[in-house]
Amino acid sequence: MTQGPTETLKGEDWAGEMGERWLASLDQFEGMIAPIGNALLERVGYQPGERVLDLGCGGGATTLAIAEAVGPDGAALGLDIAPMLIARAQARAAAAGSNARFVCADAATATLDEAPFDRLFSRFGSMFFPEPVPAFANLKAMLKPGARIDLAVWAHPRDNHWMMEVMGVVRRHVEIPPAIPRAPGPFAFEDLTYLEEVLAGAGFCDMEVAPYAGVPPVGGPGATPLEATDFVLASMAVGQVLKQQGPQVRDAARTDLLAMFKRHYRPEEGVMLACKAWLVTART
Ligand SMILES: C[S@@+](CC[C@H](N)C(=O)[O-])C[C@H]1O[C@@H](n2cnc3c(N)ncnc32)[C@H](O)[C@@H]1O
Repeated sequence: MTQGPTETLKGEDWAGEMGERWLASLDQFEGMIAPIGNALLERVGYQPGERVLDLGCGGGATTLAIAEAVGPDGAALGLDIAPMLIARAQARAAAAGSNARFVCADAATATLDEAPFDRLFSRFGSMFFPEPVPAFANLKAMLKPGARIDLAVWAHPRDNHWMMEVMGVVRRHVEIPPAIPRAPGPFAFEDLTYLEEVLAGAGFCDMEVAPYAGVPPVGGPGATPLEATDFVLASMAVGQVLKQQGPQVRDAARTDLLAMFKRHYRPEEGVMLACKAWLVTART
């Protein structure tokens, strides 16, 4: 067993290294979480003419879908802190002839000329604020009175087997301390009591939650166990931890990851591991 990072997996630098990693595996990430975005889009039911802010829009796939739903009389604005992801989103919008627009800024402090918005949407883009209450208060200031927000956030890792199984394998080879509850990161809002505290602290009310349970393909639809292994090692935080280890540890972890993914492989579907998310609604 080798010593891993002393605190926990490091915070995510989305404007830099993490943004580059998300971009490099954009199709795989989006392929994995597409069903969750579709479930959230179905729940929100955007109408022509609505003005929608897509928080932490990444490569802009959901912003493009929102732009189509709200039509030419509405507005879909993607906001993201990562310049390389905004550049990709803009290129996609241009290629698709979409009305979606994109701004690169930190949502915690940004003020947008396009405000106020009728609605706010976010697929896994709301859990990374170091100080979430002032960040959500800043977002609220860009929304109309009574505006509705819709967020997809990950539930607890124990219900996210794609994460638990990977961590279980990596922990056989490297010591990784337990995650710090509520710390900024993918699982910051696993505890809904905390999310309700954050939203109420920022001035939102009427929080409602629908659980989402699914079995997404690790590394995207149809990825083989080998492709899923390469995806995890290249793109997930544990892959970065393994990069810092010697070749023996890295090779052993890789072999075990591959064996684990083979057990969850369904030909023509991919490496299927259960996930759980919360689809959260609140109002200003
Ligand atoms: C897990 S990715 C999700 C991307 C996109 N919503 C999707 O579903 O494809 C999280 C996104 O949140 C963005 N993000 C993180 N912190 C942010 C901040 N303070 N302001 C704006 N965007 C942020 C990241 O750059 C990244 O694109």
